[in-house]
Amino acid sequence: MRKTIIAGNWKMHKTISESIELANGLKRELFKLDTQDIDIVICPGFTALAEVTEVIQGSNIQLGAQDLYWQKEGAFTGEISSLMLKDAGCSFVIIGHSERRQFFSETNESVNKKLKAALSEGLTPIVCVGETLSERESKKTFKVLDDHIKNSLMDISPEDILKIVIAYEPVWAIGTGKTATSQEAEEAQKYIRGLLIKMYNEEVASFLRIQYGGSVKPENIVELVSEPDVDGALVGGASLKVDSFSEIVKLASGVKK
Ligand code: 13P
Repeated sequence: MRKTIIAGNWKMHKTISESIELANGLKRELFKLDTQDIDIVICPGFTALAEVTEVIQGSNIQLGAQDLYWQKEGAFTGEISSLMLKDAGCSFVIIGHSERRQFFSETNESVNKKLKAALSEGLTPIVCVGETLSERESKKTFKVLDDHIKNSLMDISPEDILKIVIAYEPVWAIGTGKTATSQEAEEAQKYIRGLLIKMYNEEVASFLRIQYGGSVKPENIVELVSEPDVDGALVGGASLKVDSFSEIVKLASGVKK
């Protein structure tokens, strides 16, 4: 059985003191949940990582970053390496988010390099894939997923692939309030699992966790994670408040499949 994973992507929100406040609030609300049952991850902005690490130390909440650069070190002004993330206390890192693909020229090729860099440092990558509205409307969803999955995961060994998490995030559902229906999420995520069977094998595909992301909130989390191929959520807007994110985590941890 795959362990549910709920991650909060704070995007470009929160100062250091606001991040500490949110992390403290989540720690207070979620301390009763068992890490045997659920993985809880928060991904603050870079500047708050080291401080938030201190706050969540010894708790059931793990730390993630929102991006990294694939080089180990060097003259790459403005970039952050996997080693730096590890040093700041991260165990997860989001890679290839659609906002990076859309606004910062992220490609499958750069996602692949970042993925390898994260793995080499022992970070768990959360690799994002998903179609835009026009791609969905022109019935290209599966084609986009083929492209994102095959090329982003190029040359990743069966052993390493087991260390990653995939997030299916249809771009049209991000920040729009327009969630994919649980059937739409399941259809796409089952398709992704099918691709993984072809690329690896049944056992690998059945082990790998696939999250859904896009306007996840307390009102829709139960329906989404009740689907057989939806193993958790990557939450944007609703992860910025203690009440909504802790509610999502608690509801998801109560879903038995
Ligand atoms: P929203 O939950 O705000 O739609 O954002 C989803 C997302 O992009 C998470 O990475």
